[in-house]
Amino acid sequence: MPQRIPIAQPSLLGREREYVMDALDTGWISSIGPFIDRFEHAFAEYHGIKHAITTHNGTIALHLALVAAGIGPGDEVIIPDLTFVATANAVRYCQAVPVLTDVNPLDWNIDLQAIREKITPKTKAIIPVHLYGNPVLMEELVKLAGEHHLLIIEDCAEAIGALVRNRKVGTFGHISCFSFFGNKVITTGEGGMCITNDDSMADKMRILRDHGMNRGKRYWYDVMGFNYRMTNMQAAVGVAQMEQLDFLLMERDRIYAGYHEKLSSCSQILFQDTHGNRNINWLFTLRVKGFTGQQRDLLMTGLLEAGIDSRPVFYPIHQLPYYQETAFSRGTFPVSDRISREGISLPTFVGLSQEQLEFITETLIRIIETL
Ligand SMILES: Cc1ncc(COP(=O)(O)O)c(C=O)c1O
Repeated sequence: MPQRIPIAQPSLLGREREYVMDALDTGWISSIGPFIDRFEHAFAEYHGIKHAITTHNGTIALHLALVAAGIGPGDEVIIPDLTFVATANAVRYCQAVPVLTDVNPLDWNIDLQAIREKITPKTKAIIPVHLYGNPVLMEELVKLAGEHHLLIIEDCAEAIGALVRNRKVGTFGHISCFSFFGNKVITTGEGGMCITNDDSMADKMRILRDHGMNRGKRYWYDVMGFNYRMTNMQAAVGVAQMEQLDFLLMERDRIYAGYHEKLSSCSQILFQDTHGNRNINWLFTLRVKGFTGQQRDLLMTGLLEAGIDSRPVFYPIHQLPYYQETAFSRGTFPVSDRISREGISLPTFVGLSQEQLEFITETLIRIIETL
């Protein structure tokens, strides 16, 4: 294989260029413009939800959602230990406490039984993360949260289009947040979105995203807000991406099926259990049973030498220095430790050819056998 196979790459095969040129030609390059409205409208419609609010990225979408939901100093928010760091950081931005919770060895998502043990009178919300595109068992989680009067903020950064028994992720939470970073299923370069059916929370998010400016009295600020707005140029790309979403997801299904077919005969390899739901395969990720972190790194080096990019599974939040040095990471997290040690993600992007896929899987198996 002459060229390195990247782990991810954006798919800009539709009207992205045309729409961005439109934004440039009309001068609507900042955070007001027709593409913002079109992107929000298309996103809300896709999810069958009332409000969609664009933001500049997925991290601040989470922060905006938490602030709008009233999360503040001292509140506890239950999150999975195995996630991208932004989930935890967004809670800290509110001076709230991210209560790290171990994940389930089958689907690698937050463990519902472990959540029960973490609930205290200070618990205000849960942030389930649909890791690598594999949906959390949301019906059970909604029931559990309801019993304890907890809010759910869904972190759907990696999982647009994923289904729990035919219902889209993002439609279960009080607010749900998405990311459109360059390696995501749809991208706007940087970008994010909050969706909700709650009129009051939507109103708060729109005001907070715009410095807290009073709707009826311009340049008057009742609350301290942020500048978390998306630009019309980003949204122009987003509109074009939404037009292709079904195709982009189909391509990911194809890659998912291909990896499964080629790798399932290797008894050392474990996959995320979907429980029959739709994992949209943001990044195809597997575990090599019994691997140490060192073996995982050697596997990644071997792949790179063969021209194949890969990525380790996220390091658990409790291992990160600035979480370790605080009281947030109390407890043990054997499952997230193990998955992180054993796990790698393989190239997953629209246009990955069958030939590349076979080369990747053959190389992977060959290296695993030598380690
Ligand atoms: C689970 C998760 N949450 C939040 C984010 C943050 O999104 P962004 O990179 O757009 O800030 C990401 C992605 O990068 C993510 O994977």
